[in-house]
Amino acid sequence: MRTKILLQESDIPTHWYNVVADMPNPPAPPMGPDGKPVGPEALQAIFPDNIIEQEVSAERWIPIPEEVREILQLWRPSPLYRAHRLEQALGTPARIYYKNESVSPAGSHKPNTAVAQAYYNKVAGIKRLSTETGAGQWGCALALAGQLFGIEVRVYMVKISYEQKPYRRSMMQTWGAEVFASPTDMTGSGRRILAEYPDSPGSLGIAISEAAEEAAGRKDTNYSLGSVLNHVLLHQTVIGQEAKQQLALVGDYPDEIYAPCGGGSNFGGIAFPFFADKAAGKNVRLIAVEPTSCPTLTRGPYAYDYGDAIGLTPLLKMHTLGHDFVPPGIHAGGLRYHGDSPLVSQLHYEGLVDAVAIPQLETFEAGVLFARTEGIVPAPESSHAIAAAVRSARECAGSGEPRTILFNLSGHGHFDMSAYDRYFNNELEDYAFPAEAIEDSLSHLPGVLRNA
Ligand SMILES: Cc1ncc(COP(=O)(O)O)c(C=O)c1O
Repeated sequence: MRTKILLQESDIPTHWYNVVADMPNPPAPPMGPDGKPVGPEALQAIFPDNIIEQEVSAERWIPIPEEVREILQLWRPSPLYRAHRLEQALGTPARIYYKNESVSPAGSHKPNTAVAQAYYNKVAGIKRLSTETGAGQWGCALALAGQLFGIEVRVYMVKISYEQKPYRRSMMQTWGAEVFASPTDMTGSGRRILAEYPDSPGSLGIAISEAAEEAAGRKDTNYSLGSVLNHVLLHQTVIGQEAKQQLALVGDYPDEIYAPCGGGSNFGGIAFPFFADKAAGKNVRLIAVEPTSCPTLTRGPYAYDYGDAIGLTPLLKMHTLGHDFVPPGIHAGGLRYHGDSPLVSQLHYEGLVDAVAIPQLETFEAGVLFARTEGIVPAPESSHAIAAAVRSARECAGSGEPRTILFNLSGHGHFDMSAYDRYFNNELEDYAFPAEAIEDSLSHLPGVLRNA
């Protein structure tokens, strides 16, 4: 009975897979506030040219530089597990597999792109990177990558997470990064939010405004984003490519793939390489899993909106809850983003990718079941994928269908134990964002493009 399906270091993919090459329609272009498409030059104040090239590329395969592959070898290929004990506990005929991205030094999938972004900035002569972090996983990943390439890193950490997860901050500092609770009074964006909402818990949108503003104002500093943009999803496709090789080793292929979805990077990372097969006619369902408290794909319209809270970024066409939407301080901090990857959004809008929203208590119930059967304490973000996989496996238990289910265990929850404590003390509640609050936030979408 095989549990871990392992690859050799030489099996780490040599190329990233670009889903744009297989999409039925070209990606909707980013726009300026005047409603005119913006070219790649609009990104030059904050990104290096080599990354901008990837952002707009339609090439199917993009080579992974050897320097990046060498660092990926510190934890890749990541293991694929067959979840025998979870299957037994559920009494399901489904075969459940999970890709374990928690084995990276930072504890999640995020270093897969952090290393690539630090490398390309280093090659472009950049000395400093500024970024945001929600749950702290991305900040840790970039702090690590900056350290490995000799680049200084400054992190704007969403205030509620800064308070909930002090050891994430310590971890970033251990890797040499500076960390501030956002909103800060160090940027115009932060001061603007604080003037209006002095007790703001922060949001990813606000932290992005702060980090992007800093990068735009300093020649030696670029901005680095942990999700949403095309190049970030591209870098994560090592996950799905490895998973495909691993499943082939045991002669299996997924009917369904689940991944938690915040900005869409780990979902794109595991799902897109399988989208290539879907585009070629294969039957595989790709399902993004989000919280009911931040239901971007399931309840947000597909419209042009800013990527940040203040409106500094170009407008991206995506499912959005409105750029000034501040979701409640749930414990899946990495899933609290008002928008979503434009690529994932477009594929969802075109009916090629599915989405489901799961309430907080069900995700913790699934996370605890997973920890008690498979041993790993999952990040609350990852528990969304587990919960959706558990729902499906229970359906199979009822119907007798032997579905093959794959999910992405995007990270471990070792820094989330206060959230588990609150769950065990019955202090957590389910929260579905009220329709009126979403309506209100959507009424602030950039008017000129609201119905574009
Ligand atoms: C462990 C983990 N999983 C999932 C996510 C969601 O992000 P994304 O959708 O960009 O992969 C995050 C983001 O912080 C995370 O830390």
